[in-house]
Amino acid sequence: MKKKWFAFLSFMLALSLLLVGCNSDRASKSGGNGTRLDIFSWWTGAGEEDGLKALIKLFKEKHPEVKVENAAVAGGAGTNAKAVLASRMQGNDPPATFQVHGGAELNDGWVAAGKMKPLNELYKEEGWNDKFPKELIDLVSKDGNIYSVPVNIHRGNVLWYNKRIFKDNGLKAPKTFAEFFKVADQLKAKGITPLALGDKEPWTATQLFEDVLLGTLAPDDYKKLWTKEVSFDDPKVKEAVKTFKKMLGYINKDHSSRNWQDASQLVGKGEAAMNIMGDWAKGYFVNDLKLKVNKDFGWVTTPGTQHSFMVITDTFGLPKGIKNEDDVMKFLSLLGSVEGQDTFNPLKGSIPARIDADPSKYDAYGRLTMKEFKKARITPSLAHGSAAPEGVVTKVNNAVNIFVTQQNEAQFIDALKTAASELK
Ligand code: GAL
Repeated sequence: MKKKWFAFLSFMLALSLLLVGCNSDRASKSGGNGTRLDIFSWWTGAGEEDGLKALIKLFKEKHPEVKVENAAVAGGAGTNAKAVLASRMQGNDPPATFQVHGGAELNDGWVAAGKMKPLNELYKEEGWNDKFPKELIDLVSKDGNIYSVPVNIHRGNVLWYNKRIFKDNGLKAPKTFAEFFKVADQLKAKGITPLALGDKEPWTATQLFEDVLLGTLAPDDYKKLWTKEVSFDDPKVKEAVKTFKKMLGYINKDHSSRNWQDASQLVGKGEAAMNIMGDWAKGYFVNDLKLKVNKDFGWVTTPGTQHSFMVITDTFGLPKGIKNEDDVMKFLSLLGSVEGQDTFNPLKGSIPARIDADPSKYDAYGRLTMKEFKKARITPSLAHGSAAPEGVVTKVNNAVNIFVTQQNEAQFIDALKTAASELK
């Protein structure tokens, strides 16, 4: 009897060892030792999370074996997420993959710090080298290596307006600064807030300022600001500062207690006429406020920027030192596929980064923006990390934030010059 028990126990032990072996084998290929695929971003809440959720759902359908964790940290433009990411990276605890803007944020940040693995092989295997615009691949490359996969292209120079307010007051959406101020005066005279701003998180005011810079300097000189070929005490910059200051005379009083969604909501609900925000605002108008493109709200490019495209591209890469590389590669493959992009972008408000996506999946805004992207001059956004490294962005955000309350032009120019002295 004892012998039988012994044989049975030995058999069970061998079986469980075998199962553990199988499991750990599977685990190392997928979900490394139970490691979750934590996808790190700042897409939470209104207008932000729908695209990501749809993408994760699609990924789970295709890869049910992978344990996915949506590790998003709230706060527009990565206000809080970037700090959390920095401490995880410093503590050698990187997320499996994380949201990072193409341009300086990726290249001068995580790539320069030696924290990312190149993805050239993935691009080759997936045949992506001619599926993304060359300019975009350049934005996610350093020294001949490609370091991330762009999921989208957002446009930063968009002025959104409430259709009913404009119609009731016989107004046309402004395309130049002169038209903007004319319309703004007419609205003000009727007791309507002309321009909504929500700079509780200061990046929104920086974004407004960079659009004014682009509209005043035009794309070539705007780009030269970030290569130090045009200085921040250039007369055109001074003119832009004056224009920005004038615009601040038309904003809602409670701007500093609102975030970007709260400011967009003022326009959506007819409590303000216009706001200047990236096209994630369209995702918010449509998905959350249930408004209709071209019926409830309209859009034009921000004053003076008709032929420019302020590019903001959200990308994901492969950090060094993670346990579940295979899973990340599976996720990146989906993110860069036509199906992945056409699942994410119609909800996010952005256009696909790929050139061969299906325009019929997009609304009137998306379709026109896809066309305009092909013709427009591409300029990098400072507020969203493409134009300059994080240190410069933080300094400019602080300077803008002080300027919005104190409105001292000379002091602002000085602060901008100090920030720019950190540029390479
Ligand atoms: C940007 C990001 C967008 C959007 C926006 C507001 O930095 O690229 O995808 O999320 O912030 O949070």
